[in-house]
Amino acid sequence: MLDVKNIRQDFPILNRTVNGKPLIYFDNAATSQTPQQVIDVIVDYYTNYNANIHRGVHSLSQEATDAYEQSRLKIQNHFNAKHSHEIIFTSGTTHGINLVANGFSSLLKKGDEIIVSALEHHSNIVPWQMLCERTGASLKVIPMNNNGELILSEYEALLNDNTKLVFVNHISNALGTINPIEKIIEKAHAVGAAVLVDGAQSCPHIKPDVQALDVDFYVCSAHKMCGPTGVGMLYGKEAWLNKLPPYQGGGEMIAEVSFEKTTYAGLPHKFEAGTPNICGGIAFGAALDYMNAIGFDAIAEYENDLLDYGTTELLKIEGLKIYGTAKEKTSVISFNVNSIHPYDIGTILDKMGIAVRTGHHCAQPIMDFYNIPGTIRASFMFYNTKEEIDAFITALKKAIMMLS
Ligand code: ALA
Repeated sequence: MLDVKNIRQDFPILNRTVNGKPLIYFDNAATSQTPQQVIDVIVDYYTNYNANIHRGVHSLSQEATDAYEQSRLKIQNHFNAKHSHEIIFTSGTTHGINLVANGFSSLLKKGDEIIVSALEHHSNIVPWQMLCERTGASLKVIPMNNNGELILSEYEALLNDNTKLVFVNHISNALGTINPIEKIIEKAHAVGAAVLVDGAQSCPHIKPDVQALDVDFYVCSAHKMCGPTGVGMLYGKEAWLNKLPPYQGGGEMIAEVSFEKTTYAGLPHKFEAGTPNICGGIAFGAALDYMNAIGFDAIAEYENDLLDYGTTELLKIEGLKIYGTAKEKTSVISFNVNSIHPYDIGTILDKMGIAVRTGHHCAQPIMDFYNIPGTIRASFMFYNTKEEIDAFITALKKAIMMLS
């Protein structure tokens, strides 16, 4: 059991008021809140050892380099990667996806096929469309059913010898569906295709084991899991990362430079041009420490309970429809009430101190599937409570009355 009362003390922001009301933060799928333990690491970095890394012989640079590389080891350990050089620091999930998409430009040709799923965020659609435009490859889509689950038989029918890449999110940001990535990876590998999994929404809730999954690429962002914005990681199997060309040129990614010829550094530096988000990388490691100390099994159990409670209570409201009713789901509830525009409900909830996301959630194809402009999305983390859900439902009922 989680000691949520104590856990909440770690998050200073949860004590603030918004529009004169205690903050109820249910927009965790957009970004999570930051515990004091991680804030302290950020303050410590800028207070005591801010310096550029991998470059200086001076002590500050050594300290910063050690802390940054220590964080890479923590990430390797957390995701159970075989080698630490398979962990590439990025600015976030979108950067990781674009890095891989760009790398495949030189490996694909006309006639090759790429598969994405109907449940993707725009960041896992647009880079592949751009890749198709560059290479002449074509994009296929795994369809979804009305519950927001991918139709695996249709996926199998799309796979063939021309399939080179499959991209799918582990958990849908708009609906909360947990996709069966084990099966998706296995089937893709059977036709020789590589798989990239977008873990932006899964990493806050579960602990993926990249070796057990046998996934080729896995990407995520620190800010969804109690870390800072502007930093994330790309895991890639060593063989794939060696095959891909560098994404950006610059300092630190080279072995030798002359005007005649430049040779590139080995992994992971080949993909880490320029001064990185050093403090962010260090704080990412601290966020993993924080979440692991609580424990991902306990987090999942607690959040599932919040999801069940929230779903049951919301469904008692007349005219409320939940989008995304997959059997395997995480703590995200997307819904609409009658024909009230989600934005109007979101605005009134904000006046009552409640933060939810409204709109298409950067997943327009999902909204098109349901023929709706968007939804109201409440997304819970382990520091949320049933009491907050009760207050949210009371506020929601008031908003519905005002707008009906
Ligand atoms: N992708 C983030 C979300 O789902 C921003 O809200």
